Amino acid sequence: MKKHIAILPGDGIGPEVCEAATKVLSEIGKMYQHQFEFTFADLGGVAIDKSGTPLPAETLSVCKQSDAVLLGAVGGPKWDTLPGDQRPEKGLLGLRKELDLFANLRPVTIYDALADASPLKDDIIQGVDLVIVRELTGGLYFGEPRERRGEGKEQLAVDTLVYSRKEIERIVRKGFEFAKIRGGTLTSVDKANVLESSRLWREVVDEVAQDYPDIEYSHMLVDNAAMQLVRNPRQFDVIVTENMFGDILSDEASMITGSLGMLPSASLSQDGPGLFEPIHGSAPDIAGKGVANPLATLSSVVMMLTYAFEMTDEADALAEAINDVLEAGHRTADLTNDASKALSTEEMTNQVIDALTKK
Ligand code: NAD
Ligand code: IPM
Ligand code: MN
Repeated sequence: MKKHIAILPGDGIGPEVCEAATKVLSEIGKMYQHQFEFTFADLGGVAIDKSGTPLPAETLSVCKQSDAVLLGAVGGPKWDTLPGDQRPEKGLLGLRKELDLFANLRPVTIYDALADASPLKDDIIQGVDLVIVRELTGGLYFGEPRERRGEGKEQLAVDTLVYSRKEIERIVRKGFEFAKIRGGTLTSVDKANVLESSRLWREVVDEVAQDYPDIEYSHMLVDNAAMQLVRNPRQFDVIVTENMFGDILSDEASMITGSLGMLPSASLSQDGPGLFEPIHGSAPDIAGKGVANPLATLSSVVMMLTYAFEMTDEADALAEAINDVLEAGHRTADLTNDASKALSTEEMTNQVIDALTKK
């Protein structure tokens, strides 16, 4: 099968983890007789440096014509002082909006071999298998007005948290659909004791739930959810929540697995190409050193194979290969206290390829 994949390496460790992904995809292409055609395009800081804008028209057009998009990460200190609408992150937000990627899936899977890498106790993390379904194109990230008003001590900054019934309904429905496929339960996370948008969110969840009488669901306030994720993460199956809460809770949840460098994501629209990216950022503190953990990005490739291409054998083989290298004791620096044993990004990637081709 022939597939066009847009690769947006971005900034910091983005190009390093994307290189791992293209290497692995090429290997899978050879093994299963697929043609994965990569088109590289600029997004974020690298695009600002080259063309003065974080989301060039050319990049958007490459993505729209692709079957799937793979993204490394964007941002970094070099661009931190730019005005908000010219920052690298604005390019990613623009891409999510333009491709209508409203559904962001962030699965949290425990690897037995990594039990010692998590700061949480073994008996708390054993058996955790949850997915955060994060709304990605609305809420505080996009609400208008967003501006500065006045000057000096009188200055104000305004962000707007707005959600339409339609926006809530489509993401909540996704949440219930996933709960149905997984044969599990749904927890809707909000702040309905304070926020009007959350009260509408709760109403819509109760309405949509009528269409899923077999799914057990509940509401949870976000501050409690943050605590429960650490106290007893096993209680969760599908968590559906708004944009900002999902961003924060998913970084928190990544530590159940042991590292932010482990968590993948898929951002999906109703019908266009999906975007697949690790949940971590450009990690300026380790960029250029070749030590970034590529597994979040490789697991994002698993999600691409699954959701964009429906290549389940290929996806299963890569997921197993990742599990195998961890079982064999291979670790990047973020997963071990023993620096002398830590593998580089390239070494870890080669281990995954070895495990894959041995199947
Ligand atoms: P970050 O996720 O980049 O890094 C947080 C910490 O986790 C750092 O110590 C980093 O070294 C570590 N880390 C992250 N990924 C890792 C990996 N694969 N392997 C090993 N260690 C890893 O978050 P930050 O430092 O708050 O943000 C840095 C920049 O990244 C900012 O400009 C931010 O806006 C941007 N960012 C981009 C994305 C994205 O493109 N999707 C996501 C989050 C943050
Ligand atoms: C993420 C990131 C982005 C977000 C930033 C870089 C805009 O933190 O993908 O989790 O907040 O959504
Ligand atoms: Mn984030």
